[in-house]
Amino acid sequence: VAGLVVAIDGPSGSGKSSVSRGVARELGLRYLDTGAMYRAVTWWMLQKGVDVGDPAAIAARAGEPSLTVGTDPGAPAIAVDGVDVSGPIRGPEVTSAVSAVSAVPEVRHRLVAMQREIIARSLETGGIVVEGRDIGTVVAPDAPVKIYLTASAEARARRRSAELAGTTVERQKAELARRDTLDSTRGISPLTKAADAVELDTTPLTLDEVIAEVLRIIKERT
Ligand code: C5P
Repeated sequence: VAGLVVAIDGPSGSGKSSVSRGVARELGLRYLDTGAMYRAVTWWMLQKGVDVGDPAAIAARAGEPSLTVGTDPGAPAIAVDGVDVSGPIRGPEVTSAVSAVSAVPEVRHRLVAMQREIIARSLETGGIVVEGRDIGTVVAPDAPVKIYLTASAEARARRRSAELAGTTVERQKAELARRDTLDSTRGISPLTKAADAVELDTTPLTLDEVIAEVLRIIKERT
């Protein structure tokens, strides 16, 4: 095999990032956080004063931001027009606007093309773990390993509020539910499990247990 592609999809707070980074580190693969790319474009739109409630305004400027995407699982960094935005893209302004921006087809077409290029390049060095919402269905439908992570709403909200300062489990639950609805009902590439993905409910598992289970599935499928 020239290189391995592992697609990891699932809703916010299902543990995708920690699991994907852990698996990539364990196997010496690259790591791509596609959510960070949608967040970076959203950060740029907010910075430029683009009305994120207006899909046509977003579409008109979708080609402008220039992204530099790091794929080191130990230190994934992302920059827009040369500015490192790894911190600001996790802030509440970007988080509440990202679902609207990621629903715009012009944004998706451009980012999916970039994601496929990054995946193709990674194959020369062994492969990549790619996390997102549409990796197994749209970005890399031929990936030999596809995982769909889920967790109860309660567990996801608890994990998110442990990561973020100044929030509560209840507030996170509402925010996650809002994003889930937007992400799974949009017209283009909605969040959905690929027919050939292995579904893994992480609710009762520790991070290390989930990583071990994903490594087992990869071994079985490759
Ligand atoms: O994974 P994360 O929560 O950082 O993703 C942020 C947002 O980016 C999601 O809520 C979704 O709207 C969008 N996204 C997407 N497709 C992907 C990854 C993320 O639409 N492959």
